[in-house]
Amino acid sequence: MKKLKITDGIHMLTMNVEDILFEGIWEIANGVTLNSYIVQGEKTAIIDGVIGWDGIPETLYKNLGDIGVDPQNIDYLIVNHMEPDHSGWISNFRKVKDDFTIICTDKAEKMVSSFYGEDKIRVVKEGDTLDLGKGKVLSFHPVPNVHWPDTMYTYESCSKTLFSCDMFGAFGRMGDHCFDDELTSDEVEFFEAEGIRYYSNVMATFTTSLKKAIDKAKTHEINTIAPGHGPVYRKNPQKIIDDYYRFSRYAEGAGKNEITILWGSMYGMTKKAIDFAEGILKREGIKYNMVHMPLVSESEMIATVFRSAGIIIAAPTYEYKLFPPVAEALNEIGRKRITGKAAFRFGSYGWSGGAEKEIQEIMERNKMNWDLIESVEFEGAPKEEDLAKIEVKLLELIEKVKVKTEE
Ligand code: FEO
Repeated sequence: MKKLKITDGIHMLTMNVEDILFEGIWEIANGVTLNSYIVQGEKTAIIDGVIGWDGIPETLYKNLGDIGVDPQNIDYLIVNHMEPDHSGWISNFRKVKDDFTIICTDKAEKMVSSFYGEDKIRVVKEGDTLDLGKGKVLSFHPVPNVHWPDTMYTYESCSKTLFSCDMFGAFGRMGDHCFDDELTSDEVEFFEAEGIRYYSNVMATFTTSLKKAIDKAKTHEINTIAPGHGPVYRKNPQKIIDDYYRFSRYAEGAGKNEITILWGSMYGMTKKAIDFAEGILKREGIKYNMVHMPLVSESEMIATVFRSAGIIIAAPTYEYKLFPPVAEALNEIGRKRITGKAAFRFGSYGWSGGAEKEIQEIMERNKMNWDLIESVEFEGAPKEEDLAKIEVKLLELIEKVKVKTEE
């Protein structure tokens, strides 16, 4: 765990967490940080906690001690968001200290009670304030469904710091550089990619609410954005606001100038057409990504499709339906409400088709509204005329990608 000073009276504690499935689902190949913030006036508040998955809140207490905060002197636990990566230490803290007040929204109150049996809670609503003394005044601003219904921002008016919890966060472990002005260009790139992975895996379903949260952030004068995961933005907080707006556009069909080939193949017939398609994309100078299901993790698959302006679905019919690993991927993409992508599908069939029907069913059930170019299906191996049709459709997809590109 690292300890960092944000400004006088405000510190961050941060720790890297590795080798877990985030939310029990998402493989996080590059880890994630959990950030907690301590605001000290005459009273002391801790905004979210960092229990990590090591089950050792004592690590937190020791580090609090190192920055001169006796856990016994913590007066308020501010729960911006109840998900246990931020709140999981509350029960342990109750064993250490008996007289503190939890501050949260009405939506969080019920969960604080049901998850941890807590009842000493002050419920706050938009604009409520907490004066800690010595000029430290916190105000609270609900941002529901980011990504749970309980979430709020906490804003410290003297330093103009927005404690945004999950909002403006990213996956990715942090080394020595935790502030935006310290990051190397490689680290900036790393955290953008990890931000996309985080947004697409955890937040994308709630894009409508996230856009409202972006607008709410803009109503504050902000010097620093201090999220619950990832770097702190003190030099250019506008960058992460702009990035999040762009990510929200990716959920609505825009994307980077890239095409992702989401593919699976049983015995290599569809793969022959994929090899041909790769040749066309290379000839046309198009950046493309290969996502081979079921070998690629769900986390990586979602992130790669999410950030791409164009998608090629390349998969055969299997037992009268779409090849199951690709069908499952598309279903997950639909659940994440990744809508409006430009896409083209081709694939092989043996004794019967059926893949096409299932794709339509998945798209309709999830209201994906993808811009689908007419598919090319072929019996057995692709013939010359099939490949010629695929080339025409690929050129059509490339034109659509140009319109949807937002870098
Ligand atoms: Fe970082 Fe929604 O928890």
